[in-house]
Amino acid sequence: MSEDKPRLLIVEDDLGLQKQLKWCFDEHEVLVAATRSEALAQLRRFEPPVVLLDLGLPPDAEGVGEGMATLKEILELAPQTKVIVVTGNHDRDNAMRAVALGAYDFYQKPVDTDVLRLIVSRAFHMHSLEEQNRQLREAQAHTPFEGLIATDESMVRVCRMVEKVAPTDVSVLILGESGTGKELLARAVHNQSGRRNGKFVAINCAAIPEQLLESELFGHEKGAFTGAVKQTLGKVELADGGTLFLDEIGDMPLALQAKLLRFLQGRVIERVGGREEIPVDVRVVCATNKDLQALIAEQQFRQDLYFRISEVTITVPPLRDRPGGATVLAHAMLRKFGGAHGRPKRGFTEGAIAALEAYAWPGNVRELENRVKTALIMAEGTMITAEDLNLSEGGEGTRLFNLKEVRTRAERQAIRQALAVTDNNISRTAELLGVSRPTLYDMMDKYGIRN
Ligand SMILES: Nc1ncnc2c1ncn2[C@@H]1O[C@H](COP(=O)(O)OP(=O)(O)OP(=O)(O)O)[C@@H](O)[C@H]1O
Ligand SMILES: [Mg+2]
Repeated sequence: MSEDKPRLLIVEDDLGLQKQLKWCFDEHEVLVAATRSEALAQLRRFEPPVVLLDLGLPPDAEGVGEGMATLKEILELAPQTKVIVVTGNHDRDNAMRAVALGAYDFYQKPVDTDVLRLIVSRAFHMHSLEEQNRQLREAQAHTPFEGLIATDESMVRVCRMVEKVAPTDVSVLILGESGTGKELLARAVHNQSGRRNGKFVAINCAAIPEQLLESELFGHEKGAFTGAVKQTLGKVELADGGTLFLDEIGDMPLALQAKLLRFLQGRVIERVGGREEIPVDVRVVCATNKDLQALIAEQQFRQDLYFRISEVTITVPPLRDRPGGATVLAHAMLRKFGGAHGRPKRGFTEGAIAALEAYAWPGNVRELENRVKTALIMAEGTMITAEDLNLSEGGEGTRLFNLKEVRTRAERQAIRQALAVTDNNISRTAELLGVSRPTLYDMMDKYGIRN
Protein backbone atom coordinates (compact mmCIF):
# COMPACT_ATOMS: atom_id res chain seq x y z
CA MET A 1 0.00 0.00 0.00
CA SER A 2 1.35 3.38 -0.89
CA GLU A 3 0.82 6.58 1.04
CA ASP A 4 -0.08 8.82 -1.88
CA LYS A 5 -2.72 6.64 -3.52
CA PRO A 6 -6.27 7.81 -2.79
CA ARG A 7 -7.82 5.74 -0.02
CA LEU A 8 -11.04 3.95 -0.81
CA LEU A 9 -13.02 1.87 1.65
CA ILE A 10 -15.16 -0.91 0.16
CA VAL A 11 -17.86 -2.25 2.46
CA GLU A 12 -19.13 -5.44 0.84
CA ASP A 13 -20.01 -8.80 2.33
CA ASP A 14 -19.85 -10.75 -0.94
CA LEU A 15 -16.24 -11.88 -1.04
CA GLY A 16 -16.29 -12.44 -4.79
CA LEU A 17 -17.49 -8.92 -5.44
CA GLN A 18 -15.04 -7.58 -2.89
CA LYS A 19 -12.20 -9.11 -4.87
CA GLN A 20 -13.53 -7.83 -8.16
CA LEU A 21 -13.85 -4.29 -6.84
CA LYS A 22 -10.40 -4.40 -5.30
CA TRP A 23 -8.97 -5.33 -8.65
CA CYS A 24 -11.05 -2.66 -10.38
CA PHE A 25 -9.66 0.06 -8.09
CA ASP A 26 -6.04 -1.03 -8.17
CA GLU A 27 -4.91 2.57 -8.54
CA HIS A 28 -6.30 3.18 -5.08
CA GLU A 29 -5.27 2.13 -1.66
CA VAL A 30 -8.23 -0.14 -1.12
CA LEU A 31 -9.46 -0.99 2.36
CA VAL A 32 -12.16 -3.62 2.76
CA ALA A 33 -14.79 -4.39 5.35
CA ALA A 34 -17.58 -6.92 5.39
CA THR A 35 -19.60 -5.66 8.37
CA ARG A 36 -20.66 -2.43 10.03
CA SER A 37 -18.14 -2.75 12.84
CA GLU A 38 -15.28 -3.53 10.48
CA ALA A 39 -16.27 -0.57 8.34
CA LEU A 40 -16.28 1.80 11.29
CA ALA A 41 -12.96 0.48 12.54
CA GLN A 42 -11.38 1.11 9.12
CA LEU A 43 -12.94 4.56 8.98
CA ARG A 44 -11.58 5.52 12.39
CA ARG A 45 -8.16 4.23 11.59
CA PHE A 46 -7.61 5.36 8.00
CA GLU A 47 -10.13 8.15 7.38
CA PRO A 48 -10.80 7.24 3.73
CA PRO A 49 -12.33 10.17 1.83
CA VAL A 50 -14.59 7.88 -0.20
CA VAL A 51 -16.57 4.80 0.84
CA LEU A 52 -18.39 2.30 -1.38
CA LEU A 53 -21.13 0.90 0.81
CA ASP A 54 -23.26 -2.15 0.00
CA LEU A 55 -26.62 -1.51 1.65
CA GLY A 56 -27.33 -5.24 2.05
CA LEU A 57 -25.01 -6.07 4.92
CA PRO A 58 -25.31 -8.99 7.35
CA PRO A 59 -27.18 -9.70 9.53
CA ASP A 60 -29.72 -8.03 7.26
CA ALA A 61 -28.20 -9.07 3.92
CA GLU A 62 -31.59 -9.16 2.22
CA GLY A 63 -32.82 -5.84 3.63
CA VAL A 64 -31.17 -2.43 3.97
CA GLY A 65 -31.47 -1.79 7.73
CA GLU A 66 -27.87 -2.61 8.57
CA GLY A 67 -26.55 -0.72 5.54
CA MET A 68 -28.54 2.40 6.41
CA ALA A 69 -27.36 2.22 10.02
CA THR A 70 -23.77 1.95 8.79
CA LEU A 71 -24.27 4.97 6.54
CA LYS A 72 -25.58 7.05 9.43
CA GLU A 73 -22.69 6.11 11.66
CA ILE A 74 -20.10 6.83 8.98
CA LEU A 75 -21.55 10.29 8.43
CA GLU A 76 -21.72 10.98 12.13
CA LEU A 77 -18.12 9.97 12.60
CA ALA A 78 -16.72 11.67 9.51
CA PRO A 79 -19.35 13.93 7.89
CA GLN A 80 -16.99 14.96 5.09
CA THR A 81 -16.78 11.37 3.80
CA LYS A 82 -18.31 10.75 0.38
CA VAL A 83 -20.35 7.57 0.67
CA ILE A 84 -21.55 5.89 -2.50
CA VAL A 85 -24.21 3.32 -1.67
CA VAL A 86 -24.52 0.19 -3.74
CA THR A 87 -27.98 -1.31 -3.94
CA GLY A 88 -29.71 -4.25 -5.60
CA ASN A 89 -30.92 -3.96 -9.13
CA HIS A 90 -34.45 -2.65 -8.61
CA ASP A 91 -33.91 -0.82 -5.41
CA ARG A 92 -34.04 2.78 -6.45
CA ASP A 93 -36.25 3.79 -3.52
CA ASN A 94 -33.70 2.74 -0.97
CA ALA A 95 -30.98 4.42 -2.95
CA MET A 96 -32.92 7.67 -2.79
CA ARG A 97 -33.48 7.22 0.94
CA ALA A 98 -29.76 6.79 1.41
CA VAL A 99 -29.07 9.97 -0.54
CA ALA A 100 -31.62 11.76 1.62
CA LEU A 101 -29.65 10.57 4.65
CA GLY A 102 -26.50 12.13 3.28
CA ALA A 103 -24.99 9.60 0.90
CA TYR A 104 -23.06 11.33 -1.87
CA ASP A 105 -24.34 9.10 -4.70
CA PHE A 106 -25.69 5.62 -5.38
CA TYR A 107 -24.97 2.80 -7.72
CA GLN A 108 -27.20 -0.10 -8.72
CA LYS A 109 -25.87 -3.63 -9.21
CA PRO A 110 -24.79 -5.36 -11.40
CA VAL A 111 -21.47 -3.60 -11.39
CA ASP A 112 -20.27 -1.90 -14.54
CA THR A 113 -16.70 -1.11 -13.58
CA ASP A 114 -16.24 1.82 -15.97
CA VAL A 115 -19.27 3.65 -14.66
CA LEU A 116 -18.40 2.88 -11.06
CA ARG A 117 -14.84 4.14 -11.57
CA LEU A 118 -16.22 7.38 -12.92
CA ILE A 119 -18.55 7.87 -9.94
CA VAL A 120 -15.74 7.12 -7.50
CA SER A 121 -13.30 9.47 -9.16
CA ARG A 122 -15.89 12.24 -9.10
CA ALA A 123 -16.40 11.62 -5.41
CA PHE A 124 -12.65 11.95 -4.74
CA HIS A 125 -12.58 15.12 -6.77
CA MET A 126 -15.51 16.58 -4.84
CA HIS A 127 -13.93 15.64 -1.54
CA SER A 128 -10.66 17.32 -2.42
CA LEU A 129 -12.45 20.47 -3.59
CA GLU A 130 -14.34 20.64 -0.32
CA GLU A 131 -11.13 20.06 1.59
CA GLN A 132 -9.36 22.88 -0.29
CA ASN A 133 -12.30 25.11 0.42
CA ARG A 134 -12.17 24.33 4.10
CA GLN A 135 -8.44 25.03 4.25
CA LEU A 136 -8.96 28.31 2.47
CA ARG A 137 -11.65 29.36 4.91
CA GLU A 138 -9.41 28.42 7.80
CA ALA A 139 -6.51 30.42 6.37
CA GLN A 140 -8.76 33.43 6.01
CA ALA A 141 -9.95 33.12 9.58
CA HIS A 142 -6.34 33.50 10.70
CA THR A 143 -5.77 36.97 9.38
CA PRO A 144 -2.39 38.41 10.34
CA PHE A 145 -3.67 40.68 13.09
CA GLU A 146 -6.58 38.59 14.13
CA GLY A 147 -8.98 40.68 16.19
CA LEU A 148 -6.35 43.30 16.89
CA ILE A 149 -7.48 46.87 16.69
CA ALA A 150 -4.93 49.59 16.16
CA THR A 151 -6.08 53.06 15.19
CA ASP A 152 -3.82 55.51 16.94
CA GLU A 153 -0.31 56.24 15.74
CA SER A 154 1.52 54.37 18.47
CA MET A 155 -0.34 51.10 17.93
CA VAL A 156 -0.07 51.39 14.16
CA ARG A 157 3.67 51.75 14.63
CA VAL A 158 3.70 48.63 16.79
CA CYS A 159 1.87 46.70 14.05
CA ARG A 160 4.35 47.91 11.42
CA MET A 161 7.18 46.60 13.58
CA VAL A 162 5.46 43.26 13.91
CA GLU A 163 5.06 43.07 10.13
CA LYS A 164 8.75 43.76 9.67
CA VAL A 165 10.18 41.39 12.27
CA ALA A 166 7.72 38.54 11.81
CA PRO A 167 9.24 37.03 8.64
CA THR A 168 12.74 37.03 10.18
CA ASP A 169 13.77 34.55 12.83
CA VAL A 170 14.99 37.07 15.39
CA SER A 171 13.87 36.76 18.99
CA VAL A 172 11.29 39.35 19.92
CA LEU A 173 10.71 40.81 23.36
CA ILE A 174 7.31 42.42 23.86
CA LEU A 175 7.10 44.86 26.75
CA GLY A 176 3.97 46.45 28.08
CA GLU A 177 1.69 46.80 31.05
CA SER A 178 -0.70 44.03 31.89
CA GLY A 179 -3.64 43.73 29.50
CA THR A 180 -2.10 45.79 26.69
CA GLY A 181 -2.31 42.97 24.14
CA LYS A 182 1.15 41.42 24.37
CA GLU A 183 -0.09 37.92 23.73
CA LEU A 184 -2.21 39.03 20.79
CA LEU A 185 0.91 40.60 19.26
CA ALA A 186 3.01 37.52 19.94
CA ARG A 187 0.45 35.50 17.99
CA ALA A 188 0.57 38.05 15.20
CA VAL A 189 4.35 37.60 14.99
CA HIS A 190 3.79 33.86 14.62
CA ASN A 191 0.94 34.18 12.12
CA GLN A 192 2.96 36.43 9.88
CA SER A 193 6.11 34.36 9.98
CA GLY A 194 7.17 31.44 7.80
CA ARG A 195 6.35 29.29 10.82
CA ARG A 196 2.65 30.03 10.71
CA ASN A 197 1.84 26.42 9.87
CA GLY A 198 3.87 25.24 12.83
CA LYS A 199 2.68 25.42 16.39
CA PHE A 200 2.42 28.49 18.60
CA VAL A 201 3.20 27.18 22.06
CA ALA A 202 2.70 29.53 25.00
CA ILE A 203 4.03 29.03 28.49
CA ASN A 204 3.32 31.34 31.39
CA CYS A 205 6.51 31.42 33.41
CA ALA A 206 4.76 33.06 36.37
CA ALA A 207 1.93 30.56 36.67
CA ILE A 208 3.98 27.37 37.08
CA PRO A 209 5.69 26.42 40.35
CA GLU A 210 9.46 26.68 40.11
CA GLN A 211 10.04 22.93 40.60
CA LEU A 212 7.79 22.08 37.67
CA LEU A 213 8.92 24.75 35.27
CA GLU A 214 12.00 22.93 34.02
CA SER A 215 10.07 19.79 33.15
CA GLU A 216 7.30 21.91 31.67
CA LEU A 217 9.84 23.61 29.41
CA PHE A 218 12.16 20.76 28.52
CA GLY A 219 10.07 17.66 29.26
CA HIS A 220 11.12 14.63 31.25
CA GLU A 221 11.89 10.97 30.85
CA LYS A 222 9.86 8.29 32.55
CA GLY A 223 11.03 7.89 36.14
CA ALA A 224 12.99 11.16 36.16
CA PHE A 225 11.30 12.05 39.46
CA THR A 226 8.49 10.76 41.64
CA GLY A 227 5.31 11.02 39.62
CA ALA A 228 7.06 10.97 36.24
CA VAL A 229 5.13 7.91 35.13
CA LYS A 230 5.73 8.42 31.46
CA GLN A 231 7.95 10.30 29.09
CA THR A 232 6.57 13.79 28.54
CA LEU A 233 7.65 16.33 25.96
CA GLY A 234 8.27 19.88 27.10
CA LYS A 235 6.86 23.02 25.55
CA VAL A 236 10.15 23.81 23.81
CA GLU A 237 10.13 20.48 22.00
CA LEU A 238 6.41 20.78 21.23
CA ALA A 239 7.08 24.10 19.53
CA ASP A 240 9.64 22.52 17.17
CA GLY A 241 9.20 24.15 13.77
CA GLY A 242 6.98 26.84 15.27
CA THR A 243 7.07 29.64 17.81
CA LEU A 244 7.69 29.39 21.54
CA PHE A 245 6.01 32.16 23.51
CA LEU A 246 7.52 32.69 26.95
CA ASP A 247 5.00 34.85 28.74
CA GLU A 248 5.95 36.71 31.94
CA ILE A 249 9.62 35.98 31.27
CA GLY A 250 10.51 38.47 34.02
CA ASP A 251 9.15 35.97 36.53
CA MET A 252 11.40 33.13 35.46
CA PRO A 253 13.53 31.85 38.36
CA LEU A 254 17.27 32.51 38.01
CA ALA A 255 18.24 28.84 37.93
CA LEU A 256 15.98 28.27 34.97
CA GLN A 257 17.17 31.42 33.24
CA ALA A 258 20.58 29.74 33.03
CA LYS A 259 19.05 26.65 31.43
CA LEU A 260 17.01 28.68 28.99
CA LEU A 261 20.12 30.62 28.04
CA ARG A 262 21.99 27.38 27.42
CA PHE A 263 19.18 26.26 25.14
CA LEU A 264 19.15 29.53 23.23
CA GLN A 265 22.90 29.29 22.69
CA GLY A 266 23.02 25.65 21.66
CA ARG A 267 19.49 25.08 20.33
CA VAL A 268 19.46 21.62 21.85
CA ILE A 269 17.48 20.44 24.84
CA GLU A 270 17.89 17.69 27.35
CA ARG A 271 14.75 16.31 28.92
CA VAL A 272 14.83 16.10 32.72
CA GLY A 273 16.36 12.71 33.56
CA GLY A 274 17.43 12.24 29.95
CA ARG A 275 20.89 11.89 28.51
CA GLU A 276 20.57 12.73 24.85
CA GLU A 277 20.68 16.16 23.36
CA ILE A 278 17.73 16.85 21.11
CA PRO A 279 18.00 19.62 18.52
CA VAL A 280 14.98 21.90 18.45
CA ASP A 281 14.17 24.62 15.94
CA VAL A 282 11.98 27.30 17.51
CA ARG A 283 11.51 31.02 17.20
CA VAL A 284 11.35 32.62 20.61
CA VAL A 285 9.00 35.45 21.51
CA CYS A 286 8.98 36.68 25.12
CA ALA A 287 6.73 39.10 26.95
CA THR A 288 6.73 40.74 30.34
CA ASN A 289 5.19 43.63 32.20
CA LYS A 290 8.20 43.77 34.50
CA ASP A 291 10.99 46.31 34.22
CA LEU A 292 13.76 43.98 33.08
CA GLN A 293 16.46 46.63 33.43
CA ALA A 294 15.55 47.08 37.07
CA LEU A 295 15.54 43.30 37.57
CA ILE A 296 18.98 43.11 35.96
CA ALA A 297 20.23 45.82 38.32
CA GLU A 298 18.85 43.81 41.25
CA GLN A 299 20.48 40.68 39.83
CA GLN A 300 17.11 39.04 39.46
CA PHE A 301 17.43 38.74 35.70
CA ARG A 302 20.47 37.66 33.72
CA GLN A 303 21.79 40.30 31.41
CA ASP A 304 23.17 37.74 28.96
CA LEU A 305 19.71 36.17 28.69
CA TYR A 306 18.19 39.58 28.22
CA PHE A 307 20.42 40.20 25.20
CA ARG A 308 19.50 36.82 23.72
CA ILE A 309 15.76 37.30 23.96
CA SER A 310 15.64 40.93 22.93
CA GLU A 311 17.14 40.98 19.47
CA VAL A 312 14.16 43.21 18.74
CA THR A 313 12.09 44.85 21.46
CA ILE A 314 8.55 46.01 20.87
CA THR A 315 7.00 48.26 23.48
CA VAL A 316 3.23 48.29 23.59
CA PRO A 317 1.84 51.59 24.82
CA PRO A 318 -0.64 51.56 27.70
CA LEU A 319 -4.23 52.27 26.70
CA ARG A 320 -4.24 55.70 28.37
CA ASP A 321 -1.49 56.80 25.96
CA ARG A 322 -3.47 55.86 22.87
CA PRO A 323 -5.57 58.87 21.99
CA GLY A 324 -9.05 57.74 21.04
CA GLY A 325 -7.98 54.14 21.60
CA ALA A 326 -10.44 53.38 24.36
CA THR A 327 -13.33 54.80 22.34
CA VAL A 328 -12.53 52.85 19.19
CA LEU A 329 -11.91 49.62 21.11
CA ALA A 330 -15.09 50.07 23.13
CA HIS A 331 -17.13 50.39 19.93
CA ALA A 332 -15.48 47.32 18.46
CA MET A 333 -16.25 45.37 21.62
CA LEU A 334 -19.82 46.56 21.54
CA ARG A 335 -20.11 45.10 18.04
CA LYS A 336 -18.36 41.92 19.10
CA PHE A 337 -20.19 41.17 22.35
CA GLY A 338 -23.27 43.28 21.71
CA GLY A 339 -25.59 40.52 20.55
CA ALA A 340 -24.74 38.21 23.42
CA HIS A 341 -26.80 39.67 26.23
CA GLY A 342 -30.37 40.85 25.99
CA ARG A 343 -31.24 43.91 23.95
CA PRO A 344 -28.58 45.22 21.63
CA LYS A 345 -27.11 48.59 22.55
CA ARG A 346 -26.76 51.26 19.95
CA GLY A 347 -23.72 53.03 21.29
CA PHE A 348 -22.19 55.08 24.07
CA THR A 349 -23.50 58.36 25.42
CA GLU A 350 -21.28 61.41 25.16
CA GLY A 351 -20.65 61.17 28.87
CA ALA A 352 -19.55 57.57 28.46
CA ILE A 353 -17.10 58.49 25.69
CA ALA A 354 -15.67 61.32 27.79
CA ALA A 355 -15.28 58.95 30.72
CA LEU A 356 -13.64 56.29 28.53
CA GLU A 357 -11.09 58.79 27.30
CA ALA A 358 -10.44 60.33 30.70
CA TYR A 359 -10.00 57.14 32.66
CA ALA A 360 -6.43 55.95 33.30
CA TRP A 361 -7.07 52.23 32.50
CA PRO A 362 -4.65 50.54 34.89
CA GLY A 363 -5.80 47.17 33.53
CA ASN A 364 -5.64 48.38 29.92
CA VAL A 365 -7.57 46.60 27.16
CA ARG A 366 -8.49 43.68 29.37
CA GLU A 367 -10.12 46.03 31.88
CA LEU A 368 -11.93 47.82 29.09
CA GLU A 369 -13.19 44.50 27.79
CA ASN A 370 -14.53 43.61 31.23
CA ARG A 371 -16.21 46.96 31.72
CA VAL A 372 -17.90 46.83 28.33
CA LYS A 373 -19.12 43.29 28.97
CA THR A 374 -20.52 44.29 32.35
CA ALA A 375 -22.13 47.39 30.88
CA LEU A 376 -23.85 45.29 28.23
CA ILE A 377 -25.44 43.24 30.96
CA MET A 378 -26.25 46.13 33.27
CA ALA A 379 -27.36 48.88 30.89
CA GLU A 380 -31.08 49.55 30.83
CA GLY A 381 -31.34 52.14 28.06
CA THR A 382 -30.36 51.76 24.42
CA MET A 383 -27.14 53.70 25.01
CA ILE A 384 -24.37 52.74 27.39
CA THR A 385 -23.67 55.42 29.96
CA ALA A 386 -20.58 56.19 32.02
CA GLU A 387 -22.42 54.75 34.97
CA ASP A 388 -23.04 51.45 33.16
CA LEU A 389 -19.28 51.28 32.65
CA ASN A 390 -18.85 51.99 36.32
CA LEU A 391 -16.87 55.08 35.40
CA SER A 392 -17.58 58.58 36.44
CA GLU A 393 -16.11 61.71 35.04
CA GLY A 394 -13.91 63.22 37.69
CA GLY A 395 -14.43 60.14 39.85
CA GLU A 396 -11.79 57.75 41.12
CA GLY A 397 -9.34 56.52 38.55
CA THR A 398 -9.71 59.64 36.46
CA ARG A 399 -6.43 61.33 35.88
CA LEU A 400 -5.81 64.95 36.72
CA PHE A 401 -4.97 67.05 33.70
CA ASN A 402 -3.63 70.50 33.38
CA LEU A 403 -5.53 72.93 31.16
CA LYS A 404 -3.20 72.58 28.23
CA GLU A 405 -3.59 68.82 28.28
CA VAL A 406 -7.36 69.09 28.44
CA ARG A 407 -7.34 71.45 25.47
CA THR A 408 -5.01 69.23 23.47
CA ARG A 409 -7.13 66.18 24.13
CA ALA A 410 -10.34 67.98 23.26
CA GLU A 411 -8.93 69.36 20.02
CA ARG A 412 -7.43 66.10 18.98
CA GLN A 413 -10.67 64.28 19.67
CA ALA A 414 -12.74 66.87 17.84
CA ILE A 415 -10.54 66.60 14.75
CA ARG A 416 -10.67 62.82 14.76
CA GLN A 417 -14.42 62.81 15.14
CA ALA A 418 -14.93 65.40 12.41
CA LEU A 419 -12.66 63.43 10.08
CA ALA A 420 -14.67 60.32 10.81
CA VAL A 421 -17.96 62.09 10.19
CA THR A 422 -16.82 63.57 6.87
CA ASP A 423 -15.12 60.39 5.78
CA ASN A 424 -11.72 62.09 5.85
CA ASN A 425 -12.77 64.98 3.64
CA ILE A 426 -10.44 67.82 4.64
CA SER A 427 -12.52 70.75 3.33
CA ARG A 428 -15.66 69.55 5.05
CA THR A 429 -13.78 68.75 8.24
CA ALA A 430 -12.34 72.28 8.30
CA GLU A 431 -15.78 73.69 7.68
CA LEU A 432 -17.31 71.59 10.42
CA LEU A 433 -14.66 72.70 12.91
CA GLY A 434 -14.85 76.32 11.82
CA VAL A 435 -11.18 76.62 10.89
CA SER A 436 -9.38 77.19 7.62
CA ARG A 437 -7.85 74.30 5.72
CA PRO A 438 -4.24 75.40 6.44
CA THR A 439 -5.08 75.69 10.15
CA LEU A 440 -6.57 72.21 10.09
CA TYR A 441 -3.45 70.85 8.39
CA ASP A 442 -1.27 72.55 11.01
CA MET A 443 -3.30 71.08 13.83
CA MET A 444 -3.23 67.62 12.30
CA ASP A 445 0.54 67.90 12.00
CA LYS A 446 0.84 69.05 15.57
CA TYR A 447 -1.27 66.20 16.91
CA GLY A 448 0.21 63.61 14.60
CA ILE A 449 -3.10 62.87 12.92
CA ARG A 450 -2.94 61.45 9.43
CA ASN A 451 -6.01 60.98 7.34
N1 LIG B 1 -5.48 46.07 20.17
C1 LIG B 1 -6.42 45.21 20.59
N2 LIG B 1 -7.54 45.01 19.88
C2 LIG B 1 -8.48 44.15 20.31
N3 LIG B 1 -8.40 43.43 21.43
C3 LIG B 1 -7.31 43.58 22.18
C4 LIG B 1 -6.26 44.47 21.80
N4 LIG B 1 -5.30 44.40 22.74
C5 LIG B 1 -5.73 43.53 23.66
N5 LIG B 1 -6.93 43.01 23.34
C6 LIG B 1 -7.71 42.04 24.14
O1 LIG B 1 -7.46 42.34 25.50
C7 LIG B 1 -7.22 41.16 26.26
C8 LIG B 1 -5.84 41.20 26.85
O2 LIG B 1 -4.88 41.02 25.81
P1 LIG B 1 -3.57 40.11 26.02
O3 LIG B 1 -3.89 38.89 26.80
O4 LIG B 1 -2.92 39.96 24.71
O5 LIG B 1 -2.75 41.12 26.94
P2 LIG B 1 -1.38 40.90 27.72
O6 LIG B 1 -0.59 42.11 27.48
O7 LIG B 1 -0.80 39.60 27.33
O8 LIG B 1 -1.87 40.89 29.20
P3 LIG B 1 -1.12 40.29 30.51
O9 LIG B 1 0.11 41.08 30.71
O10 LIG B 1 -2.14 40.51 31.56
O11 LIG B 1 -0.87 38.86 30.20
C9 LIG B 1 -7.45 40.01 25.30
O12 LIG B 1 -8.77 39.57 25.43
C10 LIG B 1 -7.21 40.63 23.93
O13 LIG B 1 -7.96 39.94 22.97
MG1 LIG C 1 -0.47 37.91 28.56
